Amino acid sequence: MSDKDYVLGTNDAEVDRLGLQHRVWREKALAAWRRAGIGPGMTVLDVGAGPGFAAADLAEIVGPEGRVVALERSGRFLAALRDRAGRLGLDNIVVREQDVCALPIQEPADAAWCRWVLSFAADPARVVAHIAGALRPGGVAVFHEYADYGSWRMMPPDPLVDRFRELVMRSWRESGGEPDIALRLPRLLAAAGLDLVATRPLIDIVGPADVTWRWPAAFMASNAARLAELGYLGAEEAGAMAGALEAVSPDTLMITPLVAEIVARKREEPSR
Ligand SMILES: C[S@@+](CC[C@H](N)C(=O)[O-])C[C@H]1O[C@@H](n2cnc3c(N)ncnc32)[C@H](O)[C@@H]1O
Repeated sequence: MSDKDYVLGTNDAEVDRLGLQHRVWREKALAAWRRAGIGPGMTVLDVGAGPGFAAADLAEIVGPEGRVVALERSGRFLAALRDRAGRLGLDNIVVREQDVCALPIQEPADAAWCRWVLSFAADPARVVAHIAGALRPGGVAVFHEYADYGSWRMMPPDPLVDRFRELVMRSWRESGGEPDIALRLPRLLAAAGLDLVATRPLIDIVGPADVTWRWPAAFMASNAARLAELGYLGAEEAGAMAGALEAVSPDTLMITPLVAEIVARKREEPSR
């Protein structure tokens, strides 16, 4: 897959941004995995793993008796993942360069983790069906996907942030994705034979001193340039957007984009 095919890009700066984003979201991911019962000895799929920051944490949790299968279509991201897994000595991560929309997942698994992937999938129903196909009966799938990207607002309102957010959503839709894909997820899960176990909203109101602030701020700083590259705005406006969240008054607040945590379980075979 070329960098042009993926709306957010796959360069080194995007690898770094995904690392920062994972650090901000790490506690929420760890809590979700704990609640879902992901533990030692399990085989866990990281679906759309990117450069594998979550995969590395999952590899430590499942331990030497378990394994993490990182499925990702970007060779550049997988190279970054292989590199880091090697440096960390995590030899229980299996890397698969695969389009999870196009092809079924071959590895039988106890659990699956899928974060910020379905928003970019041309056919999310197929991805969910492929996850369900790989899970053993009783296996669990944990999703963190956007339910209301438009909830990302500033207090007081900031027109640059509002325009950036709208262009982001438009760019994802025009590249075949859907930002608020979590709204469709419960139906997609049911159709694939996965029963809903739990849901939870993940949203914060933070100030510039909070570490969570850095997640949308870093996205705006890097993605404004990407939107200019894709022809959604001019260089001057992109420059203004890039710095918009870096120098704000300390009493400014931000409502973060709403992510839905959705946990589902594969139906057991009916006993005969
Ligand atoms: C925003 S990144 C999130 C990466 C990672 N899940 C995380 O939470 O850090 C979205 C990832 O999904 C991957 N992706 C999107 N569609 C895919 C597909 N059809 N097959 C495999 N990977 C896909 C992209 O290449 C990218 O790495």
